[in-house]
Amino acid sequence: MSTRTPLMAGNWKMNLDWKQGLALVEELGEALANVDLSDVEVAVLPPFVDLRTVQTAIDAGKLPIALGAQDVSAHESGAYTGEISGAMLTALNCTYAAVGHSERRQYHGEDEAITNAKVKAALEAGLTPILCVGEPLEERKAGKHVEYTLAQLEGGLEGLSAEQAAKVVVAYEPVWAIGTGEVATPEDAQEVCHEIRELLRVQHGDQVADAVRVLYGGSVKSANVADIMAKDDVDGALVGGASLKAEEFAKIAGFRAA
Ligand code: 13P
Repeated sequence: MSTRTPLMAGNWKMNLDWKQGLALVEELGEALANVDLSDVEVAVLPPFVDLRTVQTAIDAGKLPIALGAQDVSAHESGAYTGEISGAMLTALNCTYAAVGHSERRQYHGEDEAITNAKVKAALEAGLTPILCVGEPLEERKAGKHVEYTLAQLEGGLEGLSAEQAAKVVVAYEPVWAIGTGEVATPEDAQEVCHEIRELLRVQHGDQVADAVRVLYGGSVKSANVADIMAKDDVDGALVGGASLKAEEFAKIAGFRAA
């Protein structure tokens, strides 16, 4: 039995302005009141401009929801127009920052070097990076999904000490399963999540490999989450579309009741 606490993180992507974000987090707080959260952690990753409002609502309502950002700058501070630093996020009580999401890689040209720099910047600021990795459809069809994903993982974690690596959350998000409704089978998710853990084992030893949470992401819903979570190496989910509905996301958090 794993001692890792599952993490259900809702990536809102570029949805919901601050008023809508406020409504959703309040609704989510209510919906979670009916869920057994003794062994599961729930987080939301709103757009940057929603963070302050959402944080205030979480604090005021003492909601059992951790906060995270969808990205973080690789730089500490200064003349980087449009960027948001790790320190700005920790000042908002953020715990997490997603790094290297496939949409950042695809639409913003973020490569291994920038992803690696962002992982390090997040750790420096005291944030837990959620390092996203996963293969496009062509690589899956060619049977190269493990190789491709592990290369992204190696790149993202390059130069980290064992102590730093132990703090990272990894999210395996096959690109072909994101927003498509085409969820990976539990076996597909397990295969790659297991290989991710084994690479951590080779690089940093058992303690790190057994501590790091490896999430699955891609069309996760309340209807499919339990089967995916039943797999040994899957420690949670990074949820896009289904995290925009309070009841549905609360059901995902309560996957054990399904
Ligand atoms: P969907 O759950 O909408 O497929 O998105 C997954 C994702 O990209 C989460 O980061």
